[in-house]
Amino acid sequence: MDKKELIRKALEAKEKAYVPYSKFHVGAALITEDDEVFTGCNIEIASYSPTICAERTAIFKAISEGHKKIKAIAVVGDSDFTYPCGVCRQVIREFGKDATIIIANTEDEYKEYKLDDLLPHSFGPEDLENTRSEEDV
Ligand code: THU
Repeated sequence: MDKKELIRKALEAKEKAYVPYSKFHVGAALITEDDEVFTGCNIEIASYSPTICAERTAIFKAISEGHKKIKAIAVVGDSDFTYPCGVCRQVIREFGKDATIIIANTEDEYKEYKLDDLLPHSFGPEDLENTRSEEDV
């Protein structure tokens, strides 16, 4: 699966966005370390806060099917280069510390980042494993 194919899948997923309130469509497609592809769209709820972004839909689908390592994720939205929100960046951090993030308008027009570019100095699972003892603080 190459980048263009992943972007195509994200564009397809964007068609499924359920966005009666914002009317802003987003699609995402990710590939896992074991080369499985999962897609997602944003889904909005009338009481607003349960709304979920496209990226997290795709990621939670992957995790719930047993694929915990994200190699790359492509995101497409209705704005010119739609970037993942802060919450989604943190969720990508959990399952794809070294992931490539492809922000695309079309399969030929895209930008590529590493998670660390979009969420530098991040907090993650390792922090909870490397706590300093109380004597050190
Ligand atoms: N949205 C996403 O799906 N992904 C993002 O990274 C940015 C925002 C959605 C949430 C909401 O349904 C709509 O875009 C407007 O915020």
